[in-house]
Amino acid sequence: MLTNKLTREIINQLKETAQAMVAPGKGILAADESGPTIKKRFDTIGVESSGETRQAYRELLFTTPGIQEFISGVILFDETMGQSTRKEILFPKFLAGRGIIPGIKVDKGLTLIPGTSDEKATQGLDGLAERMEKYREVGAGFAKWRGVLEIGNHKPTRLGVDINAHALARYAAITQRAGLVPIVEPEILITGSHDIETCEQVSKWVLGRVFSELAQHRVILEGMILKPSMVTSGDGHPDQADIETVAKATIRAFKQSVPAAVPGVVFLSGGQSSELATAHLNAMNQMGCCPWELSFSYGRALQEKTLLVWKGNADNLSMAQKTLLHRAECNGAARYGNYTQAMEEVV
Ligand code: 13P
Repeated sequence: MLTNKLTREIINQLKETAQAMVAPGKGILAADESGPTIKKRFDTIGVESSGETRQAYRELLFTTPGIQEFISGVILFDETMGQSTRKEILFPKFLAGRGIIPGIKVDKGLTLIPGTSDEKATQGLDGLAERMEKYREVGAGFAKWRGVLEIGNHKPTRLGVDINAHALARYAAITQRAGLVPIVEPEILITGSHDIETCEQVSKWVLGRVFSELAQHRVILEGMILKPSMVTSGDGHPDQADIETVAKATIRAFKQSVPAAVPGVVFLSGGQSSELATAHLNAMNQMGCCPWELSFSYGRALQEKTLLVWKGNADNLSMAQKTLLHRAECNGAARYGNYTQAMEEVV
């Protein structure tokens, strides 16, 4: 039942789920691509996007032997939540049976903020409490909401930052009341010609506003997970900051902006190559002594190579699963700062 009050029981459950999501050596697989996004991914391998191909691909991911060793949770899209394995076990139930927590992307995508130069707000707050109830019934343990901000051309504006921080906090409060852990994702896009210092300043500003709104909305920090972008140079900047610089700038910005009560920070990959996303996480974990677990919730950086090997052909299933397992294992090692380049030479 939805309740306006966060009972001790709900709070304990939220804390427990959040801790399990950032269990040692594990991270989250983001497999919540919306219809248009998965079509874009399938286009790159020449596979038509249909209910059947999407089911086959998601089954490949979720049935990968050994994946539960490195993956604590999977973020699903609404359609996938209602799909089943070929043996007719609903995906959320199948994942839970493997000890993997199923989660659900609950935002409904982006819309223009009128009067701005193409800044975006995230939709989906209307009716969210009722939808949450439905997701909980099918076994979701957590949810995700993505806000998007862009650097450059006088962006982000105060309006853009405030609207996104407010929506993230409203979503997080509603999600916790349904007993699900909110993944709060304020993504600052990597696209642009800005330098890393600008990204660091904007990251601190955005995170500061997000946590101020979360406090106002009485969100229990111990029962949420932050999913941010790393502090990097814009992809169009001529001097790309190296791995160590990215790790240091990210940790510096986060120590100033993210309360220690948050159990985990799970990064998105945001267009970084698979290896670079792993190397960045590894470097941050090597720096040690952060109050939060530093983990991953990658979409592309976990799946890109798997898709290329699969190509929509059932004959490639086993090789594609090995490719996914290998990426998950590399990121699992990066959780301890134990990832090495030599690990890439195995597959
Ligand atoms: P990427 O790792 O591909 O950025 O995706 C993560 C995600 O969930 C974006 O919302």
